[in-house]
Amino acid sequence: TARHRIAVIAGDGIGQEVVPAAVECLDAVGARHGIAFDWHHLDWGSDHYRAHGRMMPVDGLDTLAGYDAIFLGAVGVPDIPDVETLWGLLIPIRRAFAQYVNLRPVRTLPGVPSPLAGREIDLVIVRENNEGEYSEIGGRIYQGSADEIAIQESVFTRRGVERVARFAAGLAAGRRGLLTSATKSNGIVHTMPFWDEVVRGVLADYPGVTGRQELVDALAASLVLHPERYDVIVASNLFGDILSDLAGAVAGSIGCAPSGNLNPEGKHPSMFEPVHGSAPDIAGKGIANPIGQIWSGALMLDTLGHAEAAAELVTAFEAALESGVRTRDIGGTATTAEVAAAVRANLT
Ligand code: NAD
Ligand code: IPM
Ligand code: MN
Repeated sequence: TARHRIAVIAGDGIGQEVVPAAVECLDAVGARHGIAFDWHHLDWGSDHYRAHGRMMPVDGLDTLAGYDAIFLGAVGVPDIPDVETLWGLLIPIRRAFAQYVNLRPVRTLPGVPSPLAGREIDLVIVRENNEGEYSEIGGRIYQGSADEIAIQESVFTRRGVERVARFAAGLAAGRRGLLTSATKSNGIVHTMPFWDEVVRGVLADYPGVTGRQELVDALAASLVLHPERYDVIVASNLFGDILSDLAGAVAGSIGCAPSGNLNPEGKHPSMFEPVHGSAPDIAGKGIANPIGQIWSGALMLDTLGHAEAAAELVTAFEAALESGVRTRDIGGTATTAEVAAAVRANLT
């Protein structure tokens, strides 16, 4: 039996609903493949913040370092500034563990109506996850006055761009061999030309991969009009963030979209979480779509070396969707628990 110690942070809002649903499905598929999960539930998040003034304990990152992987729901609530909740948990984890690849596959799923009915989408967004536009450098001066100025620097390093581009090119080489790089070098004159140059340099090492550079504004439109043209998309932290919600919605719903925050070298734990957030507008109703969280669990299985179990879990949720057990965001009436039960039933 393979045993894996997993840190579970259900977090806020619908994280509390979709995480248990996914854990149930992972236990079911694990049982069929000799995989035992030791789930360590950590009650970190906004309630922890309210009680202790912090999203996680002071030594939270040291605690997480000892696990094989981290399984996260979402964090963020309407009454605490996002800068406290996200920069107090999610972003420090991504950085401390050098999870510099945020892998976000997008596919049309059986039975899930897409606004682009009948189109086949099968792409992966490789989002740079440690630097770029998400920087703490900058500040505000003359606060509250008519002359107030806010400055936010972007930081792109050669090492940082190169490693994510290399990962994306390697991924494309094993798929359809097409790598699209999202750029904005027509408007952002220092960082984006640098991004383009480093990506081109990496592509020289991948003769089997066709590189394409697209301006991110046109790329956003093209993703809606011609999503089947894309194989792997590599993008900066902010562009990748925006494109992944867009692509997720185009494929049916962001409720289905998974992600893996990967440390590809395996030196540190990777973290798996859906693309969506805590969805305060539907939290507590039991109607959240758990597919994004379950699929993130499949990415976790894959990363832990269980490709077969991962594929079986994907097949199980696809069959559940196809049979009509779907939440409201994808045209059904099922509850979160009913979807989880249907997925589990396909794994017995
Ligand atoms: P959101 O992704 O939480 O919700 C956007 C819309 O999509 C909402 O209408 C919501 O109901 C719907 N939706 C999202 N997930 C769904 C699901 N599984 N099933 C059905 N419908 C779903 O984005 P938001 O409303 O902009 O953000 C809410 C909070 O979550 C904010 O505090 C934000 O900062 C945070 N957030 C956290 C993470 C994270 O922890 N990784 C990610 C994104 C947003
Ligand atoms: C995501 C989220 C986060 C991000 C926010 C909540 C900081 O939108 O994981 O996609 O921008 O990375
Ligand atoms: Mn996002």
